[in-house]
Amino acid sequence: MELFVTCGRKTAPILAEELKGLGIENISESAAGVRFDADLATAYKVILWSRTASRVLMTVAKFKADNQQALYEGIREIDWTEHLDYRKSIAVDFTSTRSALSHTQFGAQRVKDAVVDQFKKNVGDRLMVNTNRPDVRINVHVQNDEAVASIDLSGDSLHKRGYRLEGGVAPLRENLAAAILLRAGWPEIARTGGPLIDPMCGSGTFLIEGALMAANIAPGLLRNYFGFVGWKGHDKSLWAGMVGDAFRLAEEGKKRLPPIVGSDHHPKAVEHAKANVTRAGMTGYVKIERREMAKARPPMRAKAPGLVAVNPPYGERIGESEELAALYKELGSVLSKRFRRYKVALITGHPEAAKNIGLGKRKASTLFNGPIECKLYRYEVD
Ligand SMILES: C[S@@+](CC[C@H](N)C(=O)[O-])C[C@H]1O[C@@H](n2cnc3c(N)ncnc32)[C@H](O)[C@@H]1O
Repeated sequence: MELFVTCGRKTAPILAEELKGLGIENISESAAGVRFDADLATAYKVILWSRTASRVLMTVAKFKADNQQALYEGIREIDWTEHLDYRKSIAVDFTSTRSALSHTQFGAQRVKDAVVDQFKKNVGDRLMVNTNRPDVRINVHVQNDEAVASIDLSGDSLHKRGYRLEGGVAPLRENLAAAILLRAGWPEIARTGGPLIDPMCGSGTFLIEGALMAANIAPGLLRNYFGFVGWKGHDKSLWAGMVGDAFRLAEEGKKRLPPIVGSDHHPKAVEHAKANVTRAGMTGYVKIERREMAKARPPMRAKAPGLVAVNPPYGERIGESEELAALYKELGSVLSKRFRRYKVALITGHPEAAKNIGLGKRKASTLFNGPIECKLYRYEVD
């Protein structure tokens, strides 16, 4: 089968690297994700193990679709009985770029009509529609008038791990936090016993993702909904075997975690972060405290210099700029005084404010936190 694995904007190179690490070869990369040929076990592996992927789409057909009729016919030509039963519910995601078919809601409606009509004609029964948690989610993307119809084997975006019900202020997407940690070299730092610290941890995303990563816990273990479950090609025993193996690895991995500590000055953030840590099964492994960033310091039992991953506020309301400048300056001063030889990964939507950090040479890259363009700065404290 051909898979297209989507990810957050600008993270495709990190996803490609991660999938190579999972043993996947011949990956071709584009702006929206990566494409490769795979067997079912590999598709399951990505869904269970990838920390940076959003969706795993299995290509069903490709055809020209430069008008509504061509779209309808192209979808009707696919034998959907190979993929779903009449008792099942479906949902359709439709996207398009540089194409005549630009009305995504209408496109989704035509695709749904074509699948439903085929079932009515050939099976004599109606499929149901469930846009929230369908048995099978169909994805159609049209680019330059060429349509790719796929089954969304993930079903819902994989960044929704299941541990974060409490939002908090501007939380990072889980797969973006994981991408940043990978780019910052966190797995290698963790192996040396270096700690992970987030002194403005909000809902605790960096800390939880960092703990899952360092303990080799598959992020998919926390989820209870997958798109392949209602799909006819699903191999229950293959999936159950992979989940069982992942559970065994998780128990082992927790034993070798370095210190992972976060703090925030906001009591609600601390409460949310603690609840998220509990839901992630990381109580006792990730420590959250209420504290001013100015008081942050490395944990006593750190064996080696670690990583500070931080996502300071970047509000842009009038009057906030000076406050923000002072906050970033303070952060830089805390890091240079108390976190010598640590690595720092800082993501911000306010690069101007980040100029005040004063930590010297930095590596910069662009990432998107949802719709917000952000900069990721990486420093090494002298
Ligand atoms: C953008 S949010 C971090 C979101 C987090 N990365 C997440 O995924 O949920 C910034 C956080 O910094 C905290 N914060 C702001 N100023 C602080 C300070 N001086 N000391 C400690 N925490 C602070 C805020 O309470 C907020 O939770």
